[in-house]
Amino acid sequence: MPKLSKVMATALNQQMTKEFTASHLYRSMASFCYASDFIGAGDFFYTHAAEEQQHAQLLFRYMIDRGIQPLMDTIPAAESEFSDLLDVFNKALDHEVMITESISEILGLAHELRDFQSVAHLNTLMEEQTEEEALFNGIVSQIRRVGVDNGHGLFIMDQELKAMSKASAGIAI
Ligand SMILES: [Fe+2]
Ligand SMILES: [Fe+2]
Repeated sequence: MPKLSKVMATALNQQMTKEFTASHLYRSMASFCYASDFIGAGDFFYTHAAEEQQHAQLLFRYMIDRGIQPLMDTIPAAESEFSDLLDVFNKALDHEVMITESISEILGLAHELRDFQSVAHLNTLMEEQTEEEALFNGIVSQIRRVGVDNGHGLFIMDQELKAMSKASAGIAI
């Protein structure tokens, strides 16, 4: 198995850092939700932070398997101030879209380099992005429908998010 090209190694390392950064951000979002008494949303983000960590670990493992030493780069401080539940989920959705674009770029590069092992690995992450964007899109539109000033509606929504985080807990990736 050939060693990864330097340009691909750099791109994969950057993507791994982005996944760790997403995990860091989602823990910050969990923290905001818990502090705002949205326990279900807090559990949801906390569970999701663990999933992002797993994405980073997949890239870590892949680089090791391809003979590259992964480098632990700086993870910036996570945003911690949000105006309400809609704001926090909207920002999570924006973040997922940014991650999808980032993986698309690297996939393009992998095709250009005819590095089909990396293509296969990145395709797994890309499939995951489709699910995640759909998930966050769905939650954002539900919160919009309920309305951020509807205490009772948000209470029900929070219960649903709690159930969702339980349902996905323990699922790899
Ligand atoms: Fe991810
Ligand atoms: Fe994600």
